[in-house]
Amino acid sequence: MQVVAVFLCLLVTLSHVKAESETDLKDKVTVVTGAARGIGRAIADNLLKEGVSVVIIVDKNLTQGLVTKNELKSTYGAEKVWFIHGNVITDLDRVFKKIYKRYDYVHILVNNAGILDEDDPVGTYMTNTVAPVLWSQKFYDVMRKDKGGRGGIILNMASVVSYLKDPFFWFYTSSKYGILGLSVGLGHEWNYLTSEVKVLALCPLFTYTDMTKQQMVVDEQVEIFAKFKEALSWQTPDAVGEAAITICKTGETGTAYSIQGGVLSVSPYGQDITLEFLLNLQQGDNHTVNAFDSK
Ligand SMILES: NC(=O)c1ccc[n+]([C@@H]2O[C@H](COP(=O)([O-])OP(=O)(O)OC[C@H]3O[C@@H](n4cnc5c(N)ncnc54)[C@H](O)[C@@H]3O)[C@@H](O)[C@H]2O)c1
Ligand SMILES: *[C@@H]1O[C@H](CO)[C@@H](O)[C@H](O)[C@H]1NC(C)=O
Ligand SMILES: *[C@@H]1O[C@H](CO)[C@@H](O)[C@H](O)[C@H]1NC(C)=O
Repeated sequence: MQVVAVFLCLLVTLSHVKAESETDLKDKVTVVTGAARGIGRAIADNLLKEGVSVVIIVDKNLTQGLVTKNELKSTYGAEKVWFIHGNVITDLDRVFKKIYKRYDYVHILVNNAGILDEDDPVGTYMTNTVAPVLWSQKFYDVMRKDKGGRGGIILNMASVVSYLKDPFFWFYTSSKYGILGLSVGLGHEWNYLTSEVKVLALCPLFTYTDMTKQQMVVDEQVEIFAKFKEALSWQTPDAVGEAAITICKTGETGTAYSIQGGVLSVSPYGQDITLEFLLNLQQGDNHTVNAFDSK
């Protein structure tokens, strides 16, 4: 019964949010971390196709960053691309200051930089979880309308492993669980009501990039993982780049989206504490409060 009540709340909330208007990305100042190659580069490319004002690429790979900057500049124009060489773990303050010296506002932040290296759990957490948390905090504080900002979008690159149970690369997986929690929590409609900062997670399945070219699993799993990789549908970085644009424009805040074999959908996980539920609670409707009692 109570589960049904929550489910109905969820339906009501979903249909209510669907009415939101499309966000225009034209003329926006955007920052994409880890955009020297792979998925980040594809997101930068697709943002530029949408007519954003500028894409600021932040990447620790100097050589590849310069190559990508020059390629994108020659396609879209020199003033459209800026490369800042930096490490998301150590250089947030420096990069943030540098950006706000040249631009008065950042509308879109894409936390995309990530690594998969099971020999380096700390580096994995620092890059995939701690850095996106701190970058989100810093940019959100400036974006939020209730503190004088103009609203904005924060898109976090999660993964299907953010909500899957599977036996592979568990340090990477746990780091991606973290970024999912950040996105659905900070981006919850309750917070959006006052901040007008849309926070989203994108959860891709296997994508053809350098990350997936390496041996991703421990030696004893190489054989089963090869079969696992073959059994699933892959996609190009560009398909993920396009999906990022789609959800920036029409996605619902606090929502995780999956993309598998190029097909975009709402991620199938979890139970929602809906806006409806919280509004009822605020109005003193005591009835639904027990929805989380299991019996
Ligand atoms: N490839 C996939 O199948 C897949 C699937 C799901 C999620 N993802 C996620 O997508 C994102 C991009 O992955 P990719 O496949 O394009 O990987 P990639 O290795 O091709 O590119 C990652 C980029 O991030 C940069 N980077 C890494 N650590 C950094 C740091 N500390 N500071 C600054 N830049 C840093 C790298 O230099 C590189 O240019 C990652 O967060 C990854 O976890 C990838
Ligand atoms: C930078 O990227 C290139 C191209 O993917 C890669 O060959 C090189 O090893 C990277 N360098 C560093 C320092 O990560
Ligand atoms: C909630 O309901 C219980 C009984 O169902 C009642 O005793 C309690 O006072 C109510 N609390 C509020 C805040 O309305």
